[in-house]
Parts: sequence; structure tokens; C-alpha cells
Amino acid sequence: MRRKVTIVGAGNVGATAAHWIAAKELANVVLIDVVEGVPQGKALDLLQAMPVEKRDSNVVGTNDYADTANSDVVIITAGIPRKPGMSRDDLLMTNYKIMSDVVAKVIAYSPDSILIVVSNPLDAMAQAAFKHSKFNRERVIGMAGVLDSARFRTFIAEELKVSVENVTAFVLGGHGDTMVPLPRYSTVAGIPITELMDAATVERLVQRTRDGGAEIVKHLKTGSAYYAPSASAVEMVEAILKDKKKILPCAAYLEGEYGIHGLYVGVPCKLGVRGLEQIIEIKLTDEEAAALQKSADAVKELCAVIGV
Ligand code: NAI
Ligand code: 2OP
Repeated sequence: MRRKVTIVGAGNVGATAAHWIAAKELANVVLIDVVEGVPQGKALDLLQAMPVEKRDSNVVGTNDYADTANSDVVIITAGIPRKPGMSRDDLLMTNYKIMSDVVAKVIAYSPDSILIVVSNPLDAMAQAAFKHSKFNRERVIGMAGVLDSARFRTFIAEELKVSVENVTAFVLGGHGDTMVPLPRYSTVAGIPITELMDAATVERLVQRTRDGGAEIVKHLKTGSAYYAPSASAVEMVEAILKDKKKILPCAAYLEGEYGIHGLYVGVPCKLGVRGLEQIIEIKLTDEEAAALQKSADAVKELCAVIGV
């Protein structure tokens, strides 16, 4: 039987995630939004692309949570995106209200689902979804590290003029200005990039990665990135639905790993059919560990504001 993925929020990230899932024939998709007509219109349009794409994915648009019942995975993209001059943190109060409302409705109809949180500020929203759902940590995972690492990989491949397929990269920490790209663990065909570029070049690419979201907001002016963010969320969905045991950087609830307690922060995670199946602890230098702690402190501050 085909699996079922609900996407809450039929905006840029949500609708594009629906596109990737349907085009990969990963699951049937339910697209839900508060705005009437938009999820229905986008879903019908996408459904009509399936004969052309030779895919049998079903895509439904709705405003009624009854249609989302018994979803295997739910991607939550509901909320407002940032505009030029705004940081992800400026979205906190508005998106927290939306997240609280959405999570209550999602879990009422899909009590066994796995939640993938995308809305910003990401780590605080994942923490809110975790606390409100009362799901175990295996079933509430935040998407940010896959995106931030993909940006880093893109810049590395461009700089060295190599295939993106040769490049792996790790970005840890919260999804914000304090994120922690790890050059030592970022490689081209297995070779650390620190062996292939001088320190100034590495630092330039690290900073561009930190500013990756803002660079796109500056171009778009009316919203934020959505192709790479939706592709990243769908990579996580695929790892779960296909039980791939894939190691991806995700926001996970730490219970002492990396010396952090009771907080969502980006770390390497193994994703499989149970959701978050393992948190991989890698050795960090003192400097890297301090940067991760600083990033966790920034997440903690936001969580304190909304009391989660
Ligand atoms: P968008 O504005 O295009 O779409 C958001 C959608 O959410 C809208 O269609 C809106 O009607 C809907 N919505 C609002 N309240 C809702 C509710 N209570 N229930 C259901 N739907 C509701 O925004 P976009 O670009 O899709 O971004 C969505 C969120 O994802 C933003 O918060 C953005 O900052 C975040 N984001 C996070 C990324 C990450 O790496 N974690 C990357 C990209 C975006
Ligand atoms: C990004 O990094 C907006 O968080 C989103 O593009």
C-alpha cells in the first residue's frame, strides 16, 4: 500500500515538497492550509502533472484535517517566512501560535505519525512541536542541517570545480547565525577540504553558508528559499519511508549528547522507519564544541521566550 505524507502549509516550501514527493512517487500527498482554495488548486495542478511524469502518486488539497488521517509522515511548513531585514528569530511569536494550533490538529488525526518540522525559527519550533505533541523524540525531527550542508556542498563544489556528488559536508548547531559548519568533516572524494583550500577560502565559504538563507531573501525580496529547503525535507522523508538508515544532519532533542540537555539542536542523526534512530556523536575540538554550545544557548533563549 502506498504511504501517506501530509504537508501542512501549501506555500512555497510545502507545495514544492509535494512536487518532489509526487515526482519521486514516494507517497500519496495531502496538502493542507488555512487558506481556502490554494491547497486544492495546487494539488489538482500537481495531480494533472502525474500522467506526464508517468507517476501514480495521488495528491489531494484540503482545509480539513480529517483528510490527513493516518499519515505516516507529516511535514510542517505552516507559518510566515522572513522578508529582507528580518532574521528567522523575528518569526518566533507568530509561528509559535501557528505551530501550537497545527500540532494539536495533526496529532488528533495521525497519532502514530513522524513529524518533520520546517517552520522557523527551526530549532525552537521543533522544540514546540515536541512539547505540544508529547511524542517521543524519535518522532519529532527538525529540518535545517540537510539544507545548510547542501548550501556548503554547493559552494565547495563551485569553488573546486568538482561534481557535487563528490562533496559531503557537515553543519551542526541551530539553524541561525550561530550555525556551526565543520570544515574538518567536510570532504571531496574523502579528502578533507582543509587539505584542498587555504584557510581564508574555507572561512569565506563557511560565512556564505551561514548567510545562505539571507542571500536568497535579499534576491527574492518577498519571501525566503524553497527549492533546496523542500528537497532537503523530502530527503528526510525518503530516508524514513524507505528505512534507509541514512545519516543526515537534523535538529534532534538532545538528552546529554554533546553535553546538551533537553534542547533541539542540529546533530548527525540516523533516520529510518522509526524516525530518529540514533544520534551520532563525533569528536569536536574545543573550539568546535564551544561554537556548538553558543549555538545551543541561542536556541535556548528563544525556547525560553515561548516557554517550551
Ligand atoms: P509561505 O508563506 O510560502 O507558506 C506558508 C504557508 O503556511 C502559507 O500558505 C500559509 O497560508 C500557511 N499557513 C499559515 N498558518 C497556517 C495554519 N495555521 N495552518 C496551515 N497552514 C498555515 O512560506 P514558505 O516559504 O513556504 O516557508 C514556510 C516556513 O518555513 C517559514 O516559517 C520559513 O521561514 C520556514 N523555512 C524553514 C527552512 C528551514 O531550513 N528550516 C527553510 C525555508 C523556509
Ligand atoms: C533558509 O535558510 C529561510 O531558513 C530558511 O533559507
